[in-house]
Amino acid sequence: MTLTLTEKDRSMLKGDFGPAARMALSIVVRMAGVVGADALLDITAAHIDSTVYIGAAGLEFAERLARLGAKVCVPTTLNVSGLDEFHWQEWAVPAEWARQAHRQMLAYQGMGTTPTWTCAPYQLELRPAFGQQIAWGESNAIAFANSVLGARTERYPDLFDICCAISGRAPATGLHLAENRGGQLLFRLSADVSEKLQYSDDFYTVLGNLVGKQTLDKIPVIDGLTGRPDEDQLKAFCAAAASSGGVALFHMVGITPEAPSLEHAFQGTPPVQAIEIGMQALRLSRQQLTHGLDDQLDLVVLGCPHFSLAEFKRLAPLLEGRHTHPGVKFLVTSSRFMTGLARQTGLLQALEAFGGQLTVDTCTLASPMLPAEIKCLMTNSAKFAYYAPGMLEKNITFGSLQDCVDSACAGRVIRDGSLWDE
Ligand code: F3S
Repeated sequence: MTLTLTEKDRSMLKGDFGPAARMALSIVVRMAGVVGADALLDITAAHIDSTVYIGAAGLEFAERLARLGAKVCVPTTLNVSGLDEFHWQEWAVPAEWARQAHRQMLAYQGMGTTPTWTCAPYQLELRPAFGQQIAWGESNAIAFANSVLGARTERYPDLFDICCAISGRAPATGLHLAENRGGQLLFRLSADVSEKLQYSDDFYTVLGNLVGKQTLDKIPVIDGLTGRPDEDQLKAFCAAAASSGGVALFHMVGITPEAPSLEHAFQGTPPVQAIEIGMQALRLSRQQLTHGLDDQLDLVVLGCPHFSLAEFKRLAPLLEGRHTHPGVKFLVTSSRFMTGLARQTGLLQALEAFGGQLTVDTCTLASPMLPAEIKCLMTNSAKFAYYAPGMLEKNITFGSLQDCVDSACAGRVIRDGSLWDE
């Protein structure tokens, strides 16, 4: 397939915009060939996932671009880094690792980006609008941007995302094009799923895990929900479905912007398959999020994806007058921006009095911060529960926010399964 280039593209490829822009666009052009695109399109924002330090190659790539004078040409936010500059010495992060991760942060910051250091960039004012063409990395953020905001992005991998931000161009393909955004699989909630359960704080997490597993990389449409999820519930769904599956776009009928009706969600075509979701499947999905049944507990981790201001608000009253057990650490991960807001509004006092800790700009999966003696973890995040057993080699128990707080206080895992009929 022949790729049509504009005058400006050709000029950039000749080096008229500098060597970094030439390198970036030549990679975009090469990738357009790989995905079979016949044109490029302008993007108006980017979110860069290559910021996490995972070794020498990623650092070398970032520093090479920086040495060539790379500058982004669209508003660009940064995903988590591998380092919490403020608190890393409280944990087990090796000093040399911290130095390298910091070099990588400086390289990306120097390209004219906004140092947001968060995997939840949609919590910021800069978030994209409906229909906006963007190039975002980070799977949960991609699913949120496409599905909840109605912006348009493909699943941009590390290193390619920054090339789009520097050149301002992306292959015109996949979810950038309206005709590729129609639903494919229909998930219908059955009548045995109670309204009360649908309002619980762990329902959308469990549902997202189930939908992701069954959808893989198709576009699911979810129908039959009675409640209206808030943004944190949608965030939890995105993170879960993009981890257990490759979901980059979903539609919830009557809730997400491209799905005012079933017909709109499927763009007038019939679903490839219809799947009924009942209590049995949901219970199984919840069970799958716990790896290594044990009531031992060393650490509770919240904030995957990064904690929002609304979550800090929900957490504070649960901690009032209580204290974490001396044998259990209680950690919240968030962005520096969101924790700044939480501090200004007095929401961190309860966490500090409780004995909780904060990690900003990174997370326990992106930074080697956990010491070996921490073995048993608890979380309210499906994404964390999905990746942590393999990446950290720890036992993970999944629970609601209330379960996590109660367990931290008791010093052992406590889970209330009454809404799940356990
Ligand atoms: Fe964010 Fe780390 Fe979870 S990057 S989505 S907190 S694994």
